[in-house]
Amino acid sequence: MDKLQVVGGKRLEGEIVISGAKNAALPILCAGLLTSGDLELSNVPRLHDVKTILKLLAQTGLTVSQDDERVTLNGSAITMLEAPYELVKTMRASILVLGPLLARFGEAKVSLPGGCAIGSRPVDQHIKGLRALGAEITIEGGYIYAKCKKLKGARIRTDMITVTGTENLLMAATLAEGETVLENAAREPEVTDLANLLVAMGAKIEGIGTDRLVIQGVAELHGAKHAVISDRIEAATFLCAVAATGGDILLKNTRTDYFDVALDKLREIGLVMTMGPASIRAQMGGRPKPVSFRTTEYPGFPTDMQAQFMAVNTIASGASRITETIFENRFMHVQEMNRLGASIQTEGNTAHVKGVDRLVGAPVMATDLRASASLVIAAMAAQGTTIIDRIYHLDRGYDRMEVKLSAVGANIVRIK
Ligand code: EPU
Repeated sequence: MDKLQVVGGKRLEGEIVISGAKNAALPILCAGLLTSGDLELSNVPRLHDVKTILKLLAQTGLTVSQDDERVTLNGSAITMLEAPYELVKTMRASILVLGPLLARFGEAKVSLPGGCAIGSRPVDQHIKGLRALGAEITIEGGYIYAKCKKLKGARIRTDMITVTGTENLLMAATLAEGETVLENAAREPEVTDLANLLVAMGAKIEGIGTDRLVIQGVAELHGAKHAVISDRIEAATFLCAVAATGGDILLKNTRTDYFDVALDKLREIGLVMTMGPASIRAQMGGRPKPVSFRTTEYPGFPTDMQAQFMAVNTIASGASRITETIFENRFMHVQEMNRLGASIQTEGNTAHVKGVDRLVGAPVMATDLRASASLVIAAMAAQGTTIIDRIYHLDRGYDRMEVKLSAVGANIVRIK
């Protein structure tokens, strides 16, 4: 199992090119199931999760051709309407094949994802929404069996805001008969990117970017070309890294109009940012100031940035309070950061962080994707050497993070 060795205390300086967004690429690749035409995608990130979804899609009979960050899909010969447990258990986003398969073929068998490191993460809202569209759904032997003659438009209000739930229902509704209204829809930029692709494929969607999506079903969708948006979470992760270590970096291939409150919090920390048309220059000198926040849905503070900001707070010039409201178990990085000398105490879903003068390197273990990124940041800010174990989590969602960071001066190597 690969590990990362990080020697802390290096200033970051130089340019980093941001990759395509994982959480936009995964649903967009699944949209290939909705048409017999060619879907030509660019800016697809090189990630383990993308490999997993492509493997799953190929098993259905979807033709996949890949040339680095370009992927072309063709869904004219799909024969297997199934997502097996072996793949779903490694990646929950596999549930995103359910809506498209059911809408286009009237049938799907998808393994029920189990709980995961950050929470129980049920998919009841996906199922509730598909039932409202007329699907007959049974759950047996750990699988969701879904069937319908033709999905029929409906008004659906999910009990909570769910990102992949919105995406699954949106994809299903594009091929349903009549009008579907999705209320309480997620507004994340990744949902918007999927909606824009679906429109390019011939879908009729109004309210894109709002919490009320109105979809007029069409008989079929056609092929399209689309560039996946760049990854705001990857970009913000590197901004946290420079906030923690000090330095001057230029992020390229990013956007400036789709960030959430995380950017304001970075300014509060003391990071100076200059926005270009598709770039952000970030400069940091001195010790970070502490920032308190609670995670909420977009455009609130993203849960996917909670751990990385906590890493910055560990060495800030004061105390901060972080409340996690999206997932019930997303504080597993706390114990690992405390091993590096941080002073964090949790109380229910709130973490109280007291900034310390210095962290000191130690062996630590990555527990999930964003926790891994937070440990890389903490290790880069710490004195001495940190070994981070179980970095396969990191490879699921960051495109060669250690390569990008060492190119800007970090002392970080992968140990095979
Ligand atoms: N929820 C339910 N029932 C459902 C769906 C969701 O109870 O049917 C609950 C969840 O348990 C959670 C909350 O609703 O407490 C929100 O979950 P959501 O469905 O929005 O999460 P997701 O769609 O499974 C996506 C991202 C996550 C990101 C969350 C929140 C993808 C592939 N994954 O997950 O990304 O944290 O939205 O923004 O888009 C990551 O990239 O590290 C990651 C975990």
